[in-house]
Amino acid sequence: MLARSSLRSVRSVGATARNATSRTTTRATSTSTSSAEDAATWKSTAAGSAATVFAIGTIAWYYHLYGQPMHAMTPTEEGLHATKYPWVHTKWSKTFDHQALRRGFQVYQEVCAACHSLQRIPYRTLVGTIMTVDEAKALAEQNEYDTDPNDEGEIEKRPGKLSDYIPSPYKNDEAARAANNGALPPDLSLMVKARHGGCDYIFSLLTGYPEEPPAGATVQEGLNFNPYFPGTGIAMARVLYDGLVEYEDETPATTSQMAKDVVEFLHWAAEPESDERKKMGWKVLALGGLLFGVSIWVKKYKWSTIKTRKLIYNPPYPSQAPKRVESKVGEKA
Ligand code: HEC
Repeated sequence: MLARSSLRSVRSVGATARNATSRTTTRATSTSTSSAEDAATWKSTAAGSAATVFAIGTIAWYYHLYGQPMHAMTPTEEGLHATKYPWVHTKWSKTFDHQALRRGFQVYQEVCAACHSLQRIPYRTLVGTIMTVDEAKALAEQNEYDTDPNDEGEIEKRPGKLSDYIPSPYKNDEAARAANNGALPPDLSLMVKARHGGCDYIFSLLTGYPEEPPAGATVQEGLNFNPYFPGTGIAMARVLYDGLVEYEDETPATTSQMAKDVVEFLHWAAEPESDERKKMGWKVLALGGLLFGVSIWVKKYKWSTIKTRKLIYNPPYPSQAPKRVESKVGEKA
């Protein structure tokens, strides 16, 4: 044992010595051929750098050609981006302000309904959100609707019911275009969802008409300048002016107040389930959170026996160990 370890140490000393000599030799040779080696190093560095620059350049050129989003219009043509307003009714913990919805519906009826339809809204949806049953019935009865064909096949007129839809101001799109200089006033039922910026966009659009178009802006005949409208020339003129409607709750009817109310109403029209959805969301979060907590507890409970278990390996006693087969073979031989 002692002899072997001493031998090993001798061998290791020898190896160190050998290493030392070889290192000295290499150093000696390297000084002699330094210029050739330097040139080789320089070449490989240059080749590596060139390859890297080429690769980055290729990617950059490819990105320049195909990577950037394409826009059909320039930002100027796209229109000014709407200001972001702190809408209360879009917050997680808030609902529609029903007083505002009522005011907004009044603005729609008195101003927008002259040109814009609200085809997807039946009178019944107004009940309980914007007005009472009696008010909604009275409103529906102001309009006439076609009856089903009677026994002679005649279609007659009847007063509206709660199940009827709010009528359009024009008979058809052609009539609407004819009355609006060729431009079609779009249906407002889903307008909040149909435009980029939603509430912010419509509010900006309604309140964004300048007194005069800015110097240098070209406005086509029959169009009005509005920086928020894509292309800046819109067929709809400014429609909201201070004091245009008289609110029954005596809120001052400023331009921005009416725009805010009508936008909130249009949001309700596009998404009447919004409040319900938020309520459901809170329930899901509360219940989901509770169940998540319970599931963590159950997991800990179930795993506790496994995690605190101690595994011990007890090798069998030599006397009980199975006898080796080779030894028997050896004995026979
Ligand atoms: C005199 C008719 C008229 C009245 C009143 C009117 N509009 Fe319009 N509106 C139009 C026309 C026409 C267009 C189509 C504009 C175009 O395509 O250039 C339009 C377009 C719109 C658009 C769509 C803009 C877009 O991005 O395409 C919105 C939103 C809108 N109106 C909201 C309203 C609201 C809200 C009111 C009521 C406060 C209202 N309008 C009142 C005629 C009217």
